[in-house]
Amino acid sequence: MPIPDFSHRSFSYYPTKAIVVAKCIGGVWTEPELTSDFELSLHCFSGVFHYAPECFEGAKAFMGVDGRVRFFRPEENARRMSRSAAYLDMPAPSEELFVSMCIQCIQANWEHIPPYESGASLYLRPVLFGNNPQLGINSSKDVMFVVMCSGVGTYSGAEILSTGTAVISRNYDRAATFGSGAYKIGANYAQSLHAYNLAHGQGYRELLFLDTATHTHIEEFGSSNFFAIKGDTYITPDSSSILPSITNASLRTVAESLGLKVEMRPIAVEELATFDEVGSCGTAVVITPLSRIDDKPTLEGKEVSRSYHFSEKCGPVSHKLFDRIIGIQRGLEEDTWNWCHIIEKP
Ligand code: PLP
Ligand code: COI
Repeated sequence: MPIPDFSHRSFSYYPTKAIVVAKCIGGVWTEPELTSDFELSLHCFSGVFHYAPECFEGAKAFMGVDGRVRFFRPEENARRMSRSAAYLDMPAPSEELFVSMCIQCIQANWEHIPPYESGASLYLRPVLFGNNPQLGINSSKDVMFVVMCSGVGTYSGAEILSTGTAVISRNYDRAATFGSGAYKIGANYAQSLHAYNLAHGQGYRELLFLDTATHTHIEEFGSSNFFAIKGDTYITPDSSSILPSITNASLRTVAESLGLKVEMRPIAVEELATFDEVGSCGTAVVITPLSRIDDKPTLEGKEVSRSYHFSEKCGPVSHKLFDRIIGIQRGLEEDTWNWCHIIEKP
């Protein structure tokens, strides 16, 4: 395999060397297998092809300024995958199996960990899906768990902390009030694909979903959570139909440590007009600041009913939060809360 080029990367699949695969058959987990064969062999009646019993995670490992590799909060991902799998009524890997397979994947792909100077990172994508042959609408008894990775740059492919625009999705919902929004299942993303294509086609970077019952309150972006800064307060939505983001939870901790107040509460759309800074946060997007959010009656139409404007440059508070969290992940700042696992070179 040629030496990877880590410059100008976006959030995409860049070939790596190996993946790690384990199966749970009849309630018993197989030994994880490290393989460079990226083609999985699956029965065409596997549940995943029919009723989407699938959940996944996203986590990152970073080459630090000191040459040590830091893996950010993987046990939180393990716990969330366990909750997603429970929602789908299928087996999940234990926290120990989850974390050890991720570490095995990082070590096996060591030369694909982007160097510190590139600003990029190794994105881990653990995927769990039902694979026993079935036809009836049943949860999967048997599952395959695959951990793969890719050395990624910024989510948009643009400069770190460059601003983008978002549009509110009023005629496409993401997750129902009593639906699956709080779980990281592929089906949630399938629902957003068409709406995303419409938004991207008009040059928007992000799509902001509202609560499905009343369409009056902000939920989250299709790829990440929403946060806003108002004076000395970090504000983020409280809703049972959005994904509990590990980045957002970490940012709330960081915000408090920086002396900010933290509010987790319902946020009415019109409140956008009162915020100093708004952004998206998540593993893939880290913090991505927004310069404008358009409210449109439909994603297909040209009409914009209202635009909310913010600075063209990343705001100072978002910048401070970004510096602190990235500083911890890249070994520039003390890991006050013991969030990072140091991964040994194999
Ligand atoms: N919300 C959605 C819909 C996401 O896909 C993600 C990404 O994982 C997040 C929020 C952010 O979660 P985390 O910070 O755990 O990556
Ligand atoms: C992540 O941030 O890890 C995600 O999974 C978001 C991705 C769906 C864009």
